Amino acid sequence: MSIVVAPFDTADPAAVDEAHRIATAATVADVPDFPVDEREEFGVTLAHPMPGNVFVHALARIDGVAVGRVQVRLSQLDNTDLASVTIEVHPEHRRRGVGRALFAYARRVAVDDGRKRLFWNAVATLPGGAVRPEAGAAFSAAMGAKPALAEVRRRLDTTRTSQVELDDLLADARSRAAGYRVVGWHGRTPDEYVADVARLESRIISDAPMGDLEMEPEKIDTDRIRGIEVVLAARGRRAYHHGAVDPATGRLVAWTMLDVGASAPWHAWQQTTIVDPDHRGHRLGLLVKIENLRYALAREPRLTAIDTWNAAVNDYMISINERMGFRAVDGWTDWQLVL
Ligand SMILES: CC(C)(COP(=O)(O)OP(=O)(O)OC[C@H]1O[C@@H](n2cnc3c(N)ncnc32)[C@H](O)[C@@H]1OP(=O)(O)O)[C@@H](O)C(=O)NCCC(=O)NCCS
Repeated sequence: MSIVVAPFDTADPAAVDEAHRIATAATVADVPDFPVDEREEFGVTLAHPMPGNVFVHALARIDGVAVGRVQVRLSQLDNTDLASVTIEVHPEHRRRGVGRALFAYARRVAVDDGRKRLFWNAVATLPGGAVRPEAGAAFSAAMGAKPALAEVRRRLDTTRTSQVELDDLLADARSRAAGYRVVGWHGRTPDEYVADVARLESRIISDAPMGDLEMEPEKIDTDRIRGIEVVLAARGRRAYHHGAVDPATGRLVAWTMLDVGASAPWHAWQQTTIVDPDHRGHRLGLLVKIENLRYALAREPRLTAIDTWNAAVNDYMISINERMGFRAVDGWTDWQLVL
């Protein structure tokens, strides 16, 4: 039995079909409560990478049949010494060396591009949480990587959210945030806030706990925010934002965003939530998240589940999420390998 790994072009529909089949089977087996991208959304996502990133995609085949896939992300504008890797092996073809072959390929791509570190994440079971396969952690350790950051995914079941409790939380947040003006939008960010969104988004790596992950702050400017918006729209994703404006300066000093895709209108990914360090302690994080939740629910009648990730030690953000009703589902370990 020989395993052959070869790159493919995202404009090759047959290869994308195979990558989609593998990704779907892996998600259903490993994280069955995740949304599964339909073929079209999967294809446009591959075809429209986020600005500032180059991806290399490859398939592993046994006797011509695609059994695993890898994608290597090579960031171009910052973090140019690391590569992030996603490997998925079809559940019917595991423990036959396919993961190892894909990993060797990814490693070669990274080394050839001058990268010094690899990182990826893998799901794990939390005490008392949903049972998840051990394979990701066992494989990561077998490849020589070290766990660098423990994260927890929490989900909000919006059908069980108590509107009365949310009202109370919102009233409390508003009283602590007196003077700040709340603004919301969907799709393209208004021109007056786009520089502030870029400034806030750039802070996330320095502000959120990163454990032993060696990453530098991302260089995000207005052009990159506009580029991200174009990509989200091309992928068919609907993004909902809220922010808080400081009355003294007119600047946006807190911001949150979540987005919903075409394949799974019942599901949203909670993206960044961040409050400018000079404006913390006014419940602005909770305020913009609750306002944004209601704003998104009013426009997405089928939305019932929102997933968010936090470093296990990010007590402040976790307490906001728990108060809103998010509950822990599974653990996600960020693994890092020095090449
Ligand atoms: C993790 C994953 C990629 C492994 O793929 P695979 O083809 O089964 O891996 P391999 O057969 O090449 O295994 C390589 C080594 O990893 C370890 N390993 C892999 N799966 C394991 C498991 N279920 N239990 C224990 N060890 C395991 C073993 O040391 C194995 O070597 P061995 O078989 O000689 O003992 C696959 O399970 C998968 O797609 N999981 C979901 C996605 C994921 O977690 N990806 C990893 C992060 S990118």
